[in-house]
Amino acid sequence: MRRPIVAGNWKMHGSREENAQLLSALIAGVGACAAEVIVFPPAVYLAEVAALAQGSAVRVGGQNLCTESIGAYTGEVSGAMLVDVGASHVLVGHSERRALYGESDSVVARKFVAAQAAGLVPVLCVGETLEERESGVTEAVVSRQLDAVVSLAGTAAFLKAIVAYEPVWAIGTGRTASPNQAQAVHAFIRGYFSAKDVMLADHVRVLYGGSVKASNAAELFGMADVDGGLVGGASLKAEEFVRICVAAG
Ligand code: 13P
Repeated sequence: MRRPIVAGNWKMHGSREENAQLLSALIAGVGACAAEVIVFPPAVYLAEVAALAQGSAVRVGGQNLCTESIGAYTGEVSGAMLVDVGASHVLVGHSERRALYGESDSVVARKFVAAQAAGLVPVLCVGETLEERESGVTEAVVSRQLDAVVSLAGTAAFLKAIVAYEPVWAIGTGRTASPNQAQAVHAFIRGYFSAKDVMLADHVRVLYGGSVKASNAAELFGMADVDGGLVGGASLKAEEFVRICVAAG
């Protein structure tokens, strides 16, 4: 059985006060929940959020990291720094990083490798735009995004990684993929790994992201190949997020 995961990507939201309130409500709410719960605050708040989460069931991750480990890279944060302040996970290749900050498949692959080298679990985000879906290339896009990482990191690297399928058209739009649409791509992703290593395919957790809410979480998480969610907007509301975590297990 794959243990479900619910991850909350706070994106560029929060303040010290709001984070503390959100986190304490979250810790109180997810105590008995079977899912692994991870929150991804903005980098400047990571140390404080990780300190607040210490000793609880909630884990903390970074939203991004540098491809390099140290040096003259103004404005960047290394994987080792994320670990140093208490992060265990990091998002890699979020569609906002790909679209707004020009992260190519090869940069994403390098970040994935840098994350693992620092001891972080990368959460590799993949997914197609609306235009790509409508032109029938969803699987080709997802394969290309996975291939870039597999060719640099190797297949076995996914034993210590998480995949998140986030169709770009469903992110922040309120337009969730239907459970069947999500399941079809999740099954495709599992099949992609299964063709390389059956054991790995069975083990790798594939999260769905894109307008996950308390009202649609149970149905999405009920699909055979959906192992939980990567939640944006709804992760900023403690009660809603706790309900999503409970729906996962
Ligand atoms: P929303 O849940 O706000 O659609 O965001 C999804 C996402 O991008 C999580 O990484």
